[in-house]
Amino acid sequence: MTLGRPLHFNLFNNGSGHHEAAWRLPGSHPRANLDIGYFERLAQLAESVMFDSVFLADHVSLENTARRPSGRIDPLTMLTAVARTTTRIGLIATASTSYNDPYNLARRFASLDLISGGRAGWNIVTTPGDASAQNFGLAAQPSHHERYQRADEFVAVAEKLWDSWEDDAIRADRDAGVWADESKIHTIDHRGRFFSVRGPLNIPRSPQGHPVLVQAGSSEDGKDFAARHAEAVFTAQHTLADGLAFYADLKRRIKLAGRDPDSVKILPGIVPVIGSTEAEARELDAELDRLILAESGRDRLARQLGLEPAQLPLDQPLPDRLPTEDEIEGDKSRFTLIVELARREKLTVRQLVGRLGSGRGHRTFAGTPEQVADLIEEWAREGAADGFNVMPATLPSGFELFVEHVVPLLRSRGLIRTEYSGVTLREHYGLPRPPGRYATPRVAPAVD
Ligand SMILES: Cc1cc2nc3c(=O)[nH]c(=O)nc-3n(C[C@H](O)[C@H](O)[C@H](O)COP(=O)(O)O)c2cc1C
Repeated sequence: MTLGRPLHFNLFNNGSGHHEAAWRLPGSHPRANLDIGYFERLAQLAESVMFDSVFLADHVSLENTARRPSGRIDPLTMLTAVARTTTRIGLIATASTSYNDPYNLARRFASLDLISGGRAGWNIVTTPGDASAQNFGLAAQPSHHERYQRADEFVAVAEKLWDSWEDDAIRADRDAGVWADESKIHTIDHRGRFFSVRGPLNIPRSPQGHPVLVQAGSSEDGKDFAARHAEAVFTAQHTLADGLAFYADLKRRIKLAGRDPDSVKILPGIVPVIGSTEAEARELDAELDRLILAESGRDRLARQLGLEPAQLPLDQPLPDRLPTEDEIEGDKSRFTLIVELARREKLTVRQLVGRLGSGRGHRTFAGTPEQVADLIEEWAREGAADGFNVMPATLPSGFELFVEHVVPLLRSRGLIRTEYSGVTLREHYGLPRPPGRYATPRVAPAVD
């Protein structure tokens, strides 16, 4: 039995692929992360099969440069270029609420929304790690809880700023010499714990009213934040059971927050490794795993677990005594996912590094196009997903195979749209355009 309704699909383009050793394969593009034309081409390919969006991650520190492609073009700048060479596909950029100010970030997203004709989305992240904090005048990261409190106020301020111009504020009346009606442009006079912002924003209300708000943290605070603000959610779920539990929990929280659960799209990551036979897919997967540099993966694992690399001998299991999620101030949900995976499957550190190298905890899957389509359908039918964040293990080859061989199967099962029915990202998600909060109520004309 098929599901019979189109799902939402996002391409997560990280350069040379989501398997951390993808850049080492013969024929890879090791400088892809710095190649604007490459990002444009992949966005065009995703648009040709009616994906909802492309997505770019972001971090504000530099680590692990020796062993993997690192350094990246600012996502908002990159997607501005992509906006000019595409027409329909949504453009989702990551930006941190811990290391920006609402005024300039709200302006930059409104600019992308204007430039792209209403296709901007903001992946709101709180940015784990001391290395980032140390680039912004802090000795260490603020606590996890405080970062989410700041994120809450940040988004509230950004929303007020995006609304500070009413939709019809610009008159451009040459004869009267009136460019804008100033009674329709408002200060916001925000004073809160983290921010004081007078407003108004120095750019008019953008085509979507404001960009689609996307969220990607899955801790308790992260889920509550998503329930209050998000319109789409990216998440890493390793098993169908975890995916089902997360989906049900988040939809419940959205309802408790007084919002319509159907209005928030939940998009787990899937890392496909595609072969014309299962054996071929598994062979590619194994080849990628052989190229993983275990010591470099262990350094990252140690950071995620709050340990020193020396505490993680490669051929032993994780130590019995580990911090608890409460003690982790970085990425709480990924910490728990990693520890549960290692314990459940009784993995050594080397094996765990291998498993994480192929998708950082997202659902990796090596198989034929049929099997990949079956997995997608199963997760959606069972109630673990409204769509998927497609994160091919190798890029561009993995996405080219997905487009050529998986998309036709999804199409024949009615699981992907065959045409765009709208232009904006909100329209792709079936979301209404938010009315501006300061909009002057229309006075009904007097009846005579
Ligand atoms: C698909 C996906 C993409 C993410 N991209 C970023 C990113 O680009 N930058 C970042 O700092 N965090 C990123 N994250 C991490 C989360 O946004 C969040 O910062 C982290 O998970 C900590 O939140 P938590 O403790 O609530 O889980 C991403 C997470 C997921 C699932």
